[in-house]
Amino acid sequence: MKELIDKLYETQELERSELLLILNNFNADMSEYLFDKARFVSKKHFGNSIYTRGLIEFTNFCKNDCYYCGISRSNPNADRYRLSMEEILSCCETGYELGFRTFVLQGGEDGYYSEDKVVEIIKGIKSAYPDCAITLSIGERSYEAYKRFFEAGADRYLLRHETATDEHYNKLHPAELSLSERKQCLYNLKEIGFQVGTGFMVGSPFQTMENIAEDLLFLKEFKPHMIGIGPFIPHKDTRFLNEKQGSLDLTLLLIAILRLMNPKALIPATTALGTIDKNGREMGIMAGANVVMPNLSPVSVRKKYSLYDNKICTGEEAAECRFCLQNRMQKIGYELVVDRGDYKE
Ligand code: SAM
Ligand code: FES
Repeated sequence: MKELIDKLYETQELERSELLLILNNFNADMSEYLFDKARFVSKKHFGNSIYTRGLIEFTNFCKNDCYYCGISRSNPNADRYRLSMEEILSCCETGYELGFRTFVLQGGEDGYYSEDKVVEIIKGIKSAYPDCAITLSIGERSYEAYKRFFEAGADRYLLRHETATDEHYNKLHPAELSLSERKQCLYNLKEIGFQVGTGFMVGSPFQTMENIAEDLLFLKEFKPHMIGIGPFIPHKDTRFLNEKQGSLDLTLLLIAILRLMNPKALIPATTALGTIDKNGREMGIMAGANVVMPNLSPVSVRKKYSLYDNKICTGEEAAECRFCLQNRMQKIGYELVVDRGDYKE
């Protein structure tokens, strides 16, 4: 097993069968060995700096019906909201003062935010904060729409592929959504010039180790600038309410493998990881992650952006979130930095 990890460290890749060997046989000893190597690689490229992104969850309306998601359109219990341009700018103002230099605008697929509206929001933020990066995470849109967003000043785009196996994709989504469309969006975003992030949930219903190996191989081939993975966590109003949540150990193992396969990628320790274990984000950093994404949404809407149950940081002020993470990172020997945190070749 150690030989395989050494090979991964030295060559940044493994065959499918070798990945499966690791996935099917990992244990605590081996994980420690892997985490040490992943942390070494992360430190080599990023030192002890942790990049931050201020997450603004600006709408929980969604036209899609992803079976796992708490804000999917068929959930009648979701208390829907939208943030106005002024509210979004006010989140950015607070965020800027706190030291954020990247804002992530995330939301359901909400037609209310037409191409024109999104362009207006991007331009509004860019003119007020020209030294900040804007990341969009608003789902699937046309090539032309993505191009307009890029030309308006958006820098990055997050769109998880969710799973790289068609059959599995179809068990998590209704028929109108397809993996090929999702991938096409990712290729379009890259061609247009965005720094692109993709990723998947760990332990989503029906997921097998073969599916995960496929995800790792897809990520290797696609070469995203950012890779977001987090455990699946059931939401009470979805069909998956009684499914098991994703495992902490497997998520950490995958963060470390992804770091060795993609040494320079920006990899967050996600909120979902912090939700399944109170030290989840710290453990994510110790396994090779180098980004955190504190919540900058107004406190009044945080509980409403409920993708899964028991989400953390739904009560605190933006400042508390940043300071809390700053303390948490300092305790494990890392520093939150004031920096856009762009991908570097
Ligand atoms: N609508 C945009 C999109 O589809 O990319 C962005 C918002 S979407 C809610 C963001 C991510 O949340 C999804 O890509 C998915 O991986 C994650 N997510 C949704 N439901 C989840 C759950 N129950 N547990 C963990 N992650 C979840
Ligand atoms: Fe929000 Fe800790 S990150 S309270």
